Amino acid sequence: MIMTPQLRKFALTVHITCSVGWIGAVIGFLVLVVSALRTQDAQIVNAAWITMELIGWYAIVPLALASLLTGLIMSLGTKWGLFKHYWILIKLIMTILAIIVLLLNMQTVSFQASVATETGSAALAGMEGELIHAGGGLLVLLVIVILSVYKPQGITRYGQRKQQNKTN
Ligand code: HEM
Repeated sequence: MIMTPQLRKFALTVHITCSVGWIGAVIGFLVLVVSALRTQDAQIVNAAWITMELIGWYAIVPLALASLLTGLIMSLGTKWGLFKHYWILIKLIMTILAIIVLLLNMQTVSFQASVATETGSAALAGMEGELIHAGGGLLVLLVIVILSVYKPQGITRYGQRKQQNKTN
């Protein structure tokens, strides 16, 4: 079902807000990781894990899921479709993979945050993994933004068949 122009503008506004908000929330998470890695102070490391858990579950995860959901709406509600253009297919795959890694990593963050709350001695060692997760995630998200704005040409075989069926 194709959206009306007004509805499309509204849905696109929501989609961009959630998706770019996701990037902003990851940057906030990264700031905490770097500040913990730069200090020897156990209190700051504990505070970082606890705050990272909050930002993760209450900002990053909801924004990521909303980005995927609104992306699906943008694809299926416009002429773009979900499987016709490579830039959209790649965005879809990268977004799903990023969400899977995010949800797995949040298990670690929640565990470390509970250690920090209960014992006050969460490990600094795990922060290096977080640097890789959040830094890698940010790079993936930047690639997705570039794909979204440049929309490189390239139609999938499915998209070509759809086009041919229309012209015949
Ligand atoms: C991190 C994830 C994502 C980011 C950062 C992102 C970002 C963006 C941005 C900035 C635009 C606006 C481009 C423009 O109007 O020139 C856009 C449009 C669009 N996005 Fe996403 N997106 C993400 C995920 C997805 C997903 C998962 C899908 C669907 C599979 C999707 C489908 C679309 C479609 C179809 C448009 C074009 C809408 C239109 O022109 O009507 N996006 N996206």
